[in-house]
Amino acid sequence: MHILDIIAKKRDGAELAAPEIEWLINAYTNEEIPDYQMAAWLMAVFFRGMTDQETAALTMAMAQSGDTVDLSQVPGIKVDKHSTGGVADTTTLILAPLVAAAGVPVAKMSGRGLGFTGGTIDKLEAIPGFRTTLSREEFIRNLKKYNIAITGQSNAIAPADGKLYALRDVTATVESIPLIASSIMSKKIASGADKIVLDVKVGKGAFMKNREDAVKLAKAMVRIGQLVDRDTVAVLTSMEEPLGMAIGNSLEIMEAIDLLSGRGEPSLKEVCLTLGSQMLMLGGKAETPTAGRTQLEALLDSGQALAKFKEFVAGQSGDITVIANPGQLLSACLVKEVTASAQGYVAAINASQVGYVAMRLGAGREYKGQNIDLAAGIVMHCRVGQRVGREQALANLYTNDESRLEQAAVLLQQAIRIEDKPVNKPPLLLGLVDKHGFQDRLE
Ligand code: URA
Ligand code: CA
Repeated sequence: MHILDIIAKKRDGAELAAPEIEWLINAYTNEEIPDYQMAAWLMAVFFRGMTDQETAALTMAMAQSGDTVDLSQVPGIKVDKHSTGGVADTTTLILAPLVAAAGVPVAKMSGRGLGFTGGTIDKLEAIPGFRTTLSREEFIRNLKKYNIAITGQSNAIAPADGKLYALRDVTATVESIPLIASSIMSKKIASGADKIVLDVKVGKGAFMKNREDAVKLAKAMVRIGQLVDRDTVAVLTSMEEPLGMAIGNSLEIMEAIDLLSGRGEPSLKEVCLTLGSQMLMLGGKAETPTAGRTQLEALLDSGQALAKFKEFVAGQSGDITVIANPGQLLSACLVKEVTASAQGYVAAINASQVGYVAMRLGAGREYKGQNIDLAAGIVMHCRVGQRVGREQALANLYTNDESRLEQAAVLLQQAIRIEDKPVNKPPLLLGLVDKHGFQDRLE
């Protein structure tokens, strides 16, 4: 095989065979193909697209480009969940113990974030003592014992995806449905998932700005799942405003504890129950979404979900006293209240801007490897549609860096638009894609 032929074939719109794609990905991973040729191929894919078979072959080639996790000795169907990324998206921290409490094994390899807040691993490190690097043996042992384990993703998982993603980033080829779909699915498959639930975010604060594009991405990922025998369901959820109220690492742990205690913000809870019930169905623990939901609500109300979270934290050496006293996670932090400059109705909250402000306060990384301030971030006190009075608190800002507080407050105020007239709340759940296709109702 020759790289020039493969580039030309894709350029001319022909379909590549699976062995050609495997060869390409192996050769690129082994540095036998230079970036400029791979970049040309990516641009050809960007314009020509890929068939379902090509996309599935690319996914598996990337999944098998490094280590793969074998969870076959852990009983049960391993269902993983992935979100395409949003602001104040604490769902993983809530769903992992919740679904584990319902009997579905939760084996997660998560990344560190490069973005507005840390990734799940950074958030968990906000818990004193919590160990996010488990050996393979510890990971499997905890999984068998507690039904839940979360560890940092090693660089050895799908290295081809890491390399390709970096190249796409600098060649304007990120926004290609087959490339995004295969990138996401390859990491889940390499991490050992039998089945996958995807939370595809839609809106101004998300990668996919409208429902039409989100459905396309969801369908591409569900189709990959079918072709490689990893049943996949995608739920489309709105990211027009931050999902939960907390943006920041410690703050999101606090919000997760609150929700696992049976309280919490209704939108965040709704998304968790929707995704969780799909996970229970794929995991063989519920017959219908409604039955799954009822189970999950009972686990939240009875304290079993919180008890599972405690077990999980203790199992990875975390300090469980923070679960009873979450406030201790914020010691020695500066706090500033942002208030409404006029009375009216909250018409829009720019999720990306809120995320950016949280990052400026220290919650996220502006460059790879940067230290983050685990206590920094924002707690929102308003949601779209809500009526607010003049001087009413809209949010609290938290940081250890006083020099950033004033500007952050100004930027946050600009992120919240207040109008005179009442506004309709945008819908939260925008549909579901499974092997039967798209449906705009979830039950
Ligand atoms: N997230 C990924 O993991 N890959 C993409 O290509 C885009 C978003
Ligand atoms: Ca199947």
